[in-house]
Amino acid sequence: MTLDEFLAATAALASTARTHVSAADTPAALEAARTELLGRKSGRLTELMRALPDLPADARRDAGAAVNRLKTAVETALEERRAALASQAPATPALDRTMPARHAWRGAKHPVTLVVEEIVEIFRELSFTVATGPEAEHDWYNFGALNFPPEHPAMDLHDTLYLGPNAVLRTHTSPVQVRTLQSYPPPIRILAPGNAFRRDFFDASHAPVFMQIEGMAVDEGVSFVDLKATLTHFATRFFGKTETRFRPSYFPFTEPSAEMDVRCTICGGAGCAACKGTGWMEILGSGMIHPAVLESAGVDAERYTGWAFGMGPGRIADLRYGIPDIRLLYDSDVRFLEQFAT
Ligand code: DAH
Repeated sequence: MTLDEFLAATAALASTARTHVSAADTPAALEAARTELLGRKSGRLTELMRALPDLPADARRDAGAAVNRLKTAVETALEERRAALASQAPATPALDRTMPARHAWRGAKHPVTLVVEEIVEIFRELSFTVATGPEAEHDWYNFGALNFPPEHPAMDLHDTLYLGPNAVLRTHTSPVQVRTLQSYPPPIRILAPGNAFRRDFFDASHAPVFMQIEGMAVDEGVSFVDLKATLTHFATRFFGKTETRFRPSYFPFTEPSAEMDVRCTICGGAGCAACKGTGWMEILGSGMIHPAVLESAGVDAERYTGWAFGMGPGRIADLRYGIPDIRLLYDSDVRFLEQFAT
């Protein structure tokens, strides 16, 4: 090889090196180019240098100087390219201002809890206290003590969830009346909010578990006037200025019995789908406690009288908040529940 040929090969490699280095667009590609050009074993520059000893002696100095210049130039080019790539790479991903903001969920009390708390508060002002009883109940407390005749249809397997021969999931909160009467002497004024269970399928207006609020007042000389005045007061406090009416009804554990209606909160009495065109909505069952119930709890029915009521706060929450389907109360959908955040 002559000096001219060697210098021509050096120039050609310089051009190749420029192309390779500027084409490298990632740190990995740049490292590959560096190995290709400067690698100790088989780098292109190393191979060129291997040709040096074959040159005529007087040509080696110039040839060696040319190769060294090339090596420095390649190293400089690699370093510049490395710095350029590093400055391009963003340290953190860019902020995308079009991304929807993350929703901050707020905790809220369940609508039924809100209604129960409000009802308890109204009765607390009338010196009612809160009483409780077991959800798994002896059938005597659920039925027998409440004056249900042995063949009453509510005891049917279709309605009642039996846990054993005499054990049921209470079908209403009324057994708390009996347990309270057994434990405390009159005068008694209690409210008993709690779960009740029935063999129902879920649909828009039935659930197999639902809240009830039982109320009871027992003392000497308590009359139907007290019942009517107290429940009317409650309706006005809860629904605002409204009309109420009492309709005769039947429950085994009260005599006489009455259901209380309030003017439909949706249509104001004109008649709508929610009140089935009647203008009234039934909100509770009530009555004078049957003497047989007082006696089965060991209370002297000659001396004491009492009244009681039972209502469904789920239904009342529906009325208050215009909830069209009670399944919404059980779905635990935070989008629904969050609407009740205060
Ligand atoms: N226990 C009844 C039910 O579940 C509701 C009820 C009606 C309760 C009249 C009472 C009452 O205390 O006096 O449907």
